[in-house]
Amino acid sequence: MTDNGNPRHIAIIMDGNGRWAEKKYMPRALGHKAGVKVVRNIVEHCVKEKIEVLSLFAFSSENWRRPKKEIELLMDLFMGTLQSQVDKLDKNNIKLRIIGDKAAFSAKLQNKIEQAQVQTENNTGLTLVIAANYGGRWDIAQAFQQIIKKIDSGEIQAQDVSEELIAQFLTTADLPEPELFIRTGGEERISNFLLWQLAYTEFYFTETLWPDFEPDLLADAINSFRGRQRRFGRTGNQIINSLHSTQ
Ligand code: IPE
Ligand code: IPE
Ligand code: MG
Repeated sequence: MTDNGNPRHIAIIMDGNGRWAEKKYMPRALGHKAGVKVVRNIVEHCVKEKIEVLSLFAFSSENWRRPKKEIELLMDLFMGTLQSQVDKLDKNNIKLRIIGDKAAFSAKLQNKIEQAQVQTENNTGLTLVIAANYGGRWDIAQAFQQIIKKIDSGEIQAQDVSEELIAQFLTTADLPEPELFIRTGGEERISNFLLWQLAYTEFYFTETLWPDFEPDLLADAINSFRGRQRRFGRTGNQIINSLHSTQ
């Protein structure tokens, strides 16, 4: 939690673009385009609220199962958005980070991702994490691969493998854990997003479809977070007493 009671890290599954378009008898593509516009407003709100990290699920490792045309459109949108928005993000002191298995992307997209990350890496404002071809299980598996290599080379010992060590090899290693998780679009599931990292995150589900998710609705989610008692295994009284003793 930050000093103003806001979560330091918000993670969002931006769901419902397709249904939003279908409800309006429009092609799903227009739902995805409308969804990108909403990202801009939500990023601005997070900057205003001094949120440290905003993680957005843009494309899951399972989304390759979609029709080829929709995948192509999503890739084009990703590329186009990077091309048009990175300078603006940079000007606003936002640090961009893409997590996921980037090897599956075209060379052109991989280059653009690399360039965008390098361009913004020294920025000190909001860290904007985009999860693309990301899966929580993939993240844990790639951490294990790195750890096993280090065990093989003798850099670390098998008995050193602890929760803290595993966390250091996840794609989010240097970031605070998400404190607030939001999923729009009415489904109440994680869909293989940040599995390890969400262990103690507060969950917030809303029926609102992502293209209709306005900053005011994000403010509602943050308010809900602020009203919760986070016990981390302790009793409610312990939490109240510890608040009194630090005042
Ligand atoms: C989320 O919206 C965006 C991506 C998965 C890329 P959906 O496309 O899943 O929208 P619905 O769930 O079909 O409405
Ligand atoms: C999860 O949404 C992934 C993203 C929002 C990128 P999906 O719409 O793909 O999730 P499922 O398949 O309904 O669980
Ligand atoms: Mg969906």
